[in-house]
Amino acid sequence: MPERGPSDPDIREGLEGLARFLAGETTERVFRYPTCHPARGSGFCHCDQSVLKTLRVYLRGALLELVLNLPWNGLKLRLLRSMGAKVGHSVYIAVGAWIDPVFPQLLTIEDEVLIGMRARIFTHEFRRDEFRAGKVILRRGAIVGAHALVGCGVEVGRDATVAPGAAVARDVPADCTALGNPARIVPRRGASRGNEATPTEEAQDVQKKADGGTAGAK
Ligand SMILES: CC(C)(COP(=O)(O)OP(=O)(O)OC[C@H]1O[C@@H](n2cnc3c(N)ncnc32)[C@H](O)[C@@H]1OP(=O)(O)O)[C@@H](O)C(=O)NCCC(=O)NCCS
Repeated sequence: MPERGPSDPDIREGLEGLARFLAGETTERVFRYPTCHPARGSGFCHCDQSVLKTLRVYLRGALLELVLNLPWNGLKLRLLRSMGAKVGHSVYIAVGAWIDPVFPQLLTIEDEVLIGMRARIFTHEFRRDEFRAGKVILRRGAIVGAHALVGCGVEVGRDATVAPGAAVARDVPADCTALGNPARIVPRRGASRGNEATPTEEAQDVQKKADGGTAGAK
């Protein structure tokens, strides 16, 4: 691990916090830690902790990349589960989707979710002065469209859709559609569940905001 500079945060404390977050001992959705750019070698990135850790992440990435590009859906689901992701039933992941190999255990995919071709799902990110690891939750019936991007810490609500090519950095409420980049949130057409004649509450809230001209991701 590189020497810590006088202005660098306490790496050990950060890594312990991250380990607690990954072990599910904290309730936050996103773990944040102030650290410098990974190219400076802060000691925080997996890549400069140990050769073994680096190798493990890269091998996991290569395996995920290989399997997610194969046509066998069941194999993809089994691999993700074996890496700690929570995956429900009737989930379908199209060929060429990309799932962040750094923390696959932070991903929850509920029942009947569809992930489109070349969609990308991130569970970590380095920002200018901050590292983040975030739980991504795809609620029951959600669709992540082809070539869409779901950022670290985002929840895509029940029966919500991230449109093809859209990029979401904030939550998508249930029964809504996220369109474009940056994503604009609109209620899903005909959004109602079961025998309800009216749109769900979340979709109504989004519609009200849209009518007031303030629609957008939370
Ligand atoms: C996104 C989706 C819900 C839109 O369905 P829809 O509401 O019937 O779409 P419409 O064609 O009526 O378009 C509604 C609006 O969304 C816009 N829109 C549709 N798809 C869009 C996209 N990918 N990006 C940006 N805007 C889009 C339309 O331009 C239209 O805008 P307007 O109201 O300002 O005119 C639908 O295309 C879908 O479910 N896509 C997912 C497909 C996919 O990738 N599945 C994974 C399998 S690989």
